[in-house]
Amino acid sequence: MVSAPRRISLWLKHTPFYFFGAVCFFVLKAMKTNINYKDIEKLFDDKLSDYVKNKITGYKLAYSPLSENEKEQVLIRIVNTLLDPFLVYSGPHRLKQWEKGWGQNLAEFKKEKTADSVFPHYHGKYEINRLNQSFVKGMSPNYERNMLYVILDYVFDKYLREAENIYEFGCGTGHNLLKVREVNPSANLFGLDWAKSSQKIIKQMSDSGLAGNIRGYNFDFFKPSKKIKLADNSTIYTVAAIEQIGLNYKAFVSYLLKNKPDICLHVEPIAELLDENKLIDNLSIKYFRKRNYLNGYLDYLKKLEKENKIQILEAKRTYIGSLFIEGYSIIAWKPVYRCASSPDAPVCRASKDGARHDFAKSNDK
Ligand SMILES: C[S@@+](CC[C@H](N)C(=O)[O-])C[C@H]1O[C@@H](n2cnc3c(N)ncnc32)[C@H](O)[C@@H]1O
Repeated sequence: MVSAPRRISLWLKHTPFYFFGAVCFFVLKAMKTNINYKDIEKLFDDKLSDYVKNKITGYKLAYSPLSENEKEQVLIRIVNTLLDPFLVYSGPHRLKQWEKGWGQNLAEFKKEKTADSVFPHYHGKYEINRLNQSFVKGMSPNYERNMLYVILDYVFDKYLREAENIYEFGCGTGHNLLKVREVNPSANLFGLDWAKSSQKIIKQMSDSGLAGNIRGYNFDFFKPSKKIKLADNSTIYTVAAIEQIGLNYKAFVSYLLKNKPDICLHVEPIAELLDENKLIDNLSIKYFRKRNYLNGYLDYLKKLEKENKIQILEAKRTYIGSLFIEGYSIIAWKPVYRCASSPDAPVCRASKDGARHDFAKSNDK
C-alpha cells in the first residue's frame, strides 16, 4: 500500500512526463489527418459506391497540413520553377524521353514481373501535394499514387463495368489498365501509345499472365492512324496523356468521332475548371501553360456539344493534385449523331455495321 504523501510525490514526479506525452499525442494528431470516403464525396460532389468506399479505406490515406513557413517555401519554389527558362515543355520533340522513361520500366518489369515495377517513376517525386485548394504533405505510403487511384477507382467503377472493349490512349506502361481489370475482368483491353517501349511492356505483362488479354498498339495523337479502328461497344479513356498535346487535340477528337466509341473519359489537367482568382489554382494554370499542357479542350468539347455533335456527361475538378498542378479533372462525353443530314432529324448513335438506332428511344442516358 502506497501512502498518500508518497502517492502525491510520485504523481508530481511523473506529471511532466504525462503532460509531455499528452501534448505529443495531440500535436501528432493535429499533424496527421486521415482521409475517409466522406471527404472524397465532398470533393467529388457525388455519392460513392461501396466498391470505391472500400478502396479508400484500404489505401489508409493520411496527410498533414503545412505550416505558414512551409507554405511560403512551396510558393517560392513554384514561382522559381515558373520563371525557369529551361523547364521542359511537351510536344512532338518529347518522344525520345518517353521511350527512355518507359524503357526503364520495361527493364524493371523483365526482372521483377510485378505491378509495382510498371508504376511511373515521376509519381511521388515530391512530398507536397494539393488537396482541396491547399498544399499538404502526404503522410501515408504512396499517398500521391493512391489519391490518383481513388479518382481512377471512381471513374472506372462508374463508367467501365459494362464495357466490352476498353482502350486507354497514351497508356504508358499500362498500369491503369490493371486497375480497369478490377472492375471489369472480362473486357478486352487495349493500350495505345506513341512510345514503342509501351507496347513492349504490355506484351511482357500479357505474356507473364499479369494482365490477361491486353494488347498494345502504336498510336500518335498528333497523327491518329486510320488503321487503328475501334471495335463496336467500345469505351476509351485517357489519364494525364492528352495533357501532352497542348492545343493539338482536334485530330484526336475527329478520330474519335469517326470511330464512334460509346463513351470517352478523361482524367486530365483542365484549366477551365480551376479558379484563376485563387492563387493556388492560378499557379497551376500558369504551370499548364509553361509545360504546354492541354489548352482549351473543355471549351472545344462545349462547342461540339452546341453543334449537337457530342453530349458532355460530366466535367468536374477533383481537388486532388500534385505539387505544381491540379491535373486530374474528370470529363465524360459521348458522340451523338443525327439520323439524317437535317439538323432537325432525331439524334442517333451509329453502330459500326451502319445500322443506326434511335438515340431518343433508347435509355442510353
Ligand atoms: C504522363 S504520361 C501518362 C501515362 C499513363 N496514361 C499513366 O497514367 O500512367 C503521358 C503519356 O502520353 C504519351 N504521349 C505523349 N504524347 C503522345 C502522343 N503524341 N501520342 C500518343 N501518346 C503520347 C507518353 O508516351 C506517355 O505515355
